[in-house]
Amino acid sequence: MAQAALKPELANENVSTGIDDGAREEIAQALSAILTDTYYLVIKSHIYHWNVVGPMFHAIHEMTEEQYTNLFKAADEIAERIRALGHKAPIADAAGPKEAVVSMDASARSAHDMVADLIQDHEAAIRKMRDAADMAEDKRDFVTHDLLVGRMTYHEQVVWMWRSLITDKE
Ligand SMILES: [Fe+2]
Repeated sequence: MAQAALKPELANENVSTGIDDGAREEIAQALSAILTDTYYLVIKSHIYHWNVVGPMFHAIHEMTEEQYTNLFKAADEIAERIRALGHKAPIADAAGPKEAVVSMDASARSAHDMVADLIQDHEAAIRKMRDAADMAEDKRDFVTHDLLVGRMTYHEQVVWMWRSLITDKE
């Protein structure tokens, strides 16, 4: 009935795509933690973009802009994957947003320390993604696995570029 279709109702999120409820929840939890890391890096990259000074200013200013733009789009993809798994983004009790604090001292770091700090955060994010990708594949969620492989490819490239910028010996 056309009229019934127009009536707002609570969406039925009983997803039946071959991944059981428990697995979908576990994957959504892992993705929520990754979403938090991604947003955290968006904010931190932006803060360094604004506050970096010194001879590496131009490189860091440009690279952080490319990165927070990429990360912001990625956050949308990750959140939408959580929705496709039948959960709210971020899933409520994930270790995440409430614990994510970007220290304002970030702006007081030297250019070198900013890059070293970003490398550390990207690497921590990669380690978390690797575990989540492994777990998702185990549960036959190849879509999440594929999404995370793509994200790790990007983050690993970012780490290589930052290392190349601050390493002065071959
Ligand atoms: Fe800017």
